[in-house]
Amino acid sequence: MGQGVLTPPRAPDREALLADAGLERRGGTLLMAGVPLTEIADAVGTPAYVYNAEAVRARYAALDSALSGVPHRICYAVKANGNLAILRLLRDLGAGADIVSAGELARAEAAGFPPDRVVFSGVGKSAAELAAAIAARVGHINVESAEELDLLARLARNAAHPVSVGIRVNPDVTADTHPYISTGKSGIKFGVPTDHVAAAAAVIRDHPRLELTAIAMHLGSQLIDTAPFREGIGRLLAIVEQVRGVGAPALRALDVGGGLGIRYGSEPPMSPEAFAAAVVPLVAPTGLTLYVEPGRFLVGSAGVLLSSVLYRKHSGGKSFLIVDAGMNDLVRPSHYHAYHEIVELEAAGRGLATVDVVGPVCETGDFLALDRTLPMLQQGERVAVLGAGAYGFVMASSYNARPRPPEVLVDGGRFAVARPREDVSELFRGEDAAPLG
Ligand code: LLP
Repeated sequence: MGQGVLTPPRAPDREALLADAGLERRGGTLLMAGVPLTEIADAVGTPAYVYNAEAVRARYAALDSALSGVPHRICYAVKANGNLAILRLLRDLGAGADIVSAGELARAEAAGFPPDRVVFSGVGKSAAELAAAIAARVGHINVESAEELDLLARLARNAAHPVSVGIRVNPDVTADTHPYISTGKSGIKFGVPTDHVAAAAAVIRDHPRLELTAIAMHLGSQLIDTAPFREGIGRLLAIVEQVRGVGAPALRALDVGGGLGIRYGSEPPMSPEAFAAAVVPLVAPTGLTLYVEPGRFLVGSAGVLLSSVLYRKHSGGKSFLIVDAGMNDLVRPSHYHAYHEIVELEAAGRGLATVDVVGPVCETGDFLALDRTLPMLQQGERVAVLGAGAYGFVMASSYNARPRPPEVLVDGGRFAVARPREDVSELFRGEDAAPLG
């Protein structure tokens, strides 16, 4: 299965995982882009997210150059990591933004993305969100149902300018990933079924303000095989012919979504070259601009979650390492049974032990790793959980009244707090006034 599982089928490729993150060991100490992670942990405490700016830039550059054979736009999926420091650095590289809510629109605006480089996706946009996107003049709004299109048509009737619309198609392609993040198959909630696209295109054609500018899909996340992209694009090309037949003079973009998979354990990640080799030859003859919406690919490997060992415990024949990061900080292991490599910040040369790495949250499902073979870490020692740059902080919650961790950016041999640790008082802001007097 493409999605990392708690116990990967082969030994994780530790060296490659460290390299993907821009991590190296010097004298036992783990450095990110030259900065010792222990220094950061000392300064901001744990748990803490740390992102390597240079690693993000390298990923963007690799994808951008692989796609150079076709006009393209890389719209970063803000949902993967919406910290403004990350958004600004991607904006500076020329990226657009793929957003799914008014909140993400506000983030993209705060980070200074030009609105015409913003794509608004999402299966359940509210009237207020659609109105905000119209007012902001985003690049295109991908509609996902006939009813959403009807609402957009009503809202756009009096718009002062043309409103660019994409139709997100459900191409009915099976992608080999965790079922929770497979999004291109018939029978799941996403996209307009292929046999309803022509009718949607006709609604847009007949509207005074709407313009059909994009045909879109998103197959799923953490895809490591290019075959679904080929299959999905094949279906989109037939749709392009169809909507051109209906009348779509403004059509200019083929949006193939995100989903490029990264290395979490032993799986071969999708290389930008392999992705481009699959996609570019299919898109180039259409004369359309290729849009891609990668999130994880750009930031996933570039982030780690730092955590400290609170206690060790043996119980019922099992060994536990109780650490200060829990499922509220990083939910992926609990929620998807995702594998995340865990490495020590200071290699102490100790023997190995097989442990469950668990958090402080009051749920048995609160774990970062199960049956993991790790050096015998002691109380107070610290670890980095790798592959935490995407769907890490953004999915964090304050469950158990645990303030969300800080986010730190490493760049140019230095580090800076990109978002401070949440203060406990922020967790009950607005609750102190007695609601009924
Ligand atoms: N475009 C659309 C319309 C999407 O729904 C998504 C992700 C992306 C782009 C970016 O996908 P990426 O390139 O990052 O794979 N929380 C899950 C992943 C959920 C992905 C949802 N949609 C996880 O932790 O694995």
